[in-house]
Amino acid sequence: MKGVILAGGGGSRLYPVTKVVNKHLIPVGDKPMIIHAVEKLVEAGLPEILIVGSGDSLGDIVKLLGSGKEFSCKLSYRVQDEPNGIAKALEAAEDFADNEPLVVLLGDNIFQDSLKEYVEEFKKEAQGATVFLKDVPDPSRYGIAEVNRDKIVSIEEKPQNPRASYCVTGIYMYDNKVFEIIKKLKPSARGEYEISDVNMVYLKRGELSHKILKGWWVDAGTFDSLREAIQLVSGEKDR
Ligand code: G1P
Repeated sequence: MKGVILAGGGGSRLYPVTKVVNKHLIPVGDKPMIIHAVEKLVEAGLPEILIVGSGDSLGDIVKLLGSGKEFSCKLSYRVQDEPNGIAKALEAAEDFADNEPLVVLLGDNIFQDSLKEYVEEFKKEAQGATVFLKDVPDPSRYGIAEVNRDKIVSIEEKPQNPRASYCVTGIYMYDNKVFEIIKKLKPSARGEYEISDVNMVYLKRGELSHKILKGWWVDAGTFDSLREAIQLVSGEKDR
């Protein structure tokens, strides 16, 4: 099993900071945001990691992380040509995956749980997909899963009138069918290839599992949530 970190995206909600600094290089606690994701994968026993980023920021990310030696991992890099959605960014990982299952992290998700146990469990089956949920106070910001009798029954991307409050966090596990699914996707109304649509295909096939995160979780993509992530990482706040 291998790891993928998706670090594209312009970071428009952190403007003007992101006018000159890529979102994933902004410090969260004592290290740049993306290092948290790298460390999570290494700790989970996944030292082979691909980072997908945009052409204008990947150079700085390479400068920061290099070969990965310093973090006890082996890093590869790919450019996502167009900012056309998380699912398309993941498609750039097809050669790297080489038919192995993947753990995919969005580079701006900062969280407490260790993924080690979940990775071990997924490796045994290596079938379907697993998403990680967290109850959130502001569901219209995220992909939201409706859970009934311990099963996900629907996923809606940024619902205007959310029916549930379980956010589908940016932590995913996929078998190698994910690429076949991405290739058949159509862009959403906002013109992006949505990761929620990928997860919906697994759901319809009856191949989507979920776990509920026990510890804190933040998508550090806005100033408020970035501040919260910094506090949580620094151990100043419990939730
Ligand atoms: C993305 C996904 C969304 C998910 C969120 C988690 O949203 O599209 O489903 O809940 O990440 O961080 P974005 O942050 O790109 O708006």
